[in-house]
Amino acid sequence: MPPKNTIRIAPSILSADFSKLGEEVAAIDKAGADYIHIDVMDGHFVPNLTFGAPVVKSLRKTTKKIFDVHLMVTPVDPLLQSFVDAGSDIITAHVEAGPHIHRTLQAIRAAGVKAGVSLNPATPIESISHVMDLVDLILIMTVNPGFGGQSFIDLTGKISAARAMIEREGREIDLEVDGGITPQTAKMCIQAGANVLVAGTAVFKDGPGKYGEYIQALRG
Ligand code: DX5
Ligand code: ZN
Repeated sequence: MPPKNTIRIAPSILSADFSKLGEEVAAIDKAGADYIHIDVMDGHFVPNLTFGAPVVKSLRKTTKKIFDVHLMVTPVDPLLQSFVDAGSDIITAHVEAGPHIHRTLQAIRAAGVKAGVSLNPATPIESISHVMDLVDLILIMTVNPGFGGQSFIDLTGKISAARAMIEREGREIDLEVDGGITPQTAKMCIQAGANVLVAGTAVFKDGPGKYGEYIQALRG
């Protein structure tokens, strides 16, 4: 279990009001978000479309918080530089999104930002054992990516296995979970070793007046 003071909350703006995205990002910043989780979907790797680098660039003006950019796109390599230029702090690519995750992670790091790797629910944790030296963040999907508001898939065994791999690596690597995170499932994930919790519905569901309370509830 990670120490309590290292738990970070990353609200996913997928569940924000898109008609006022800048205000929404400023509101979660003020409400105590640690990372701003930005879900980029291509309608191809996942069955939904969201936004691209120009939107990330505009949002960059609204906060100094860490931009945690989750790319659910394929091919991913041609888009990396545009997300770096837009002001991303962490860029995460899916291990399933192409044949060369090693090259993708190298490219992200070479561009000067932190590199994350994400795994869909069906993908075994061993698939990243040979890229551990290249990652700053591991993102375990606890739903099939594409939509907010889905039910949590219990992959706590996989989260624990990832935490053990991080311990063996012997340096700081974020272990993030994404999908169906509520105060209850957050607790299970933290106990299994996660230290960054992505939450869309659980933060945004009742509007800005509740963001602070709901972010705090996820910290446990
Ligand atoms: C799913 C996205 C998630 C999503 C989580 O494909 O990667 O970040 O917004 O939404 P909730 O918290 O509602 O499951
Ligand atoms: Zn996400």
